[in-house]
Amino acid sequence: MSEFSSRAATEADAQTLAALNLACWRETYVGLLPAETFAALSLGERLDHWRGVFQMKGDRVTLAMDAAGETVGFTHWRAHELALGGRLGRGGEICAIYLRRSAQRRGLGGWLMRLMAEEMRASGLKWASLVVLRENLPARRFYEAMGARRFGHELSWRSVPQVAYGWRDVGRLAAHQ
Ligand SMILES: CC(C)(COP(=O)(O)OP(=O)(O)OC[C@H]1O[C@@H](n2cnc3c(N)ncnc32)[C@H](O)[C@@H]1OP(=O)(O)O)[C@@H](O)C(=O)NCCC(=O)NCCS
Repeated sequence: MSEFSSRAATEADAQTLAALNLACWRETYVGLLPAETFAALSLGERLDHWRGVFQMKGDRVTLAMDAAGETVGFTHWRAHELALGGRLGRGGEICAIYLRRSAQRRGLGGWLMRLMAEEMRASGLKWASLVVLRENLPARRFYEAMGARRFGHELSWRSVPQVAYGWRDVGRLAAHQ
């Protein structure tokens, strides 16, 4: 992954994250979100979101940069107590993984998933889960290629159907090739 680098984000990155988040959502969700929901996406709402995330303390946010130092992606995860009924111990909830289109399909997403899984494993977490828009088929193919299995019932985000995916063993995800 010499083409890309990453670093932990801090509260000082909230503005950068808000702008990157909005740009990624606009690239990803055109046609997937209802027009009025899409039109209502705003930088101010994203800035409030990221400032709130950095108040949470336990949340882990990572920024990814390309070879020119341009910020091209981010990930966000937190420890999760409840999913899968607690049967498998504490797990990690992947809240977000987004790359600018220009940085996609070059292995960066897989590298960032392994990085998150390694952080979870080092934090004593056993499994990982996430939710994704049901119609976001490229992302679903990516998670499936990373070894994820679907579980649970359909959910919804901003009135749009979502499905859940999980990995029983974050150690295996961390080592996934
Ligand atoms: C989904 C995402 C994180 C994947 O990261 P990426 O760097 O593009 O993916 P990688 O290059 O690491 O791909 C790893 C494997 O996943 C699968 N895959 C990735 N993108 C795929 C796609 N669009 N269609 C089908 N399979 C895909 C492939 O098997 C791929 O291996 P290959 O390139 O050798 O065929 C990235 O494309 C992205 O940010 N997309 C837009 C935002 C988004 O939808 N985020 C998820 C929200 S829940």
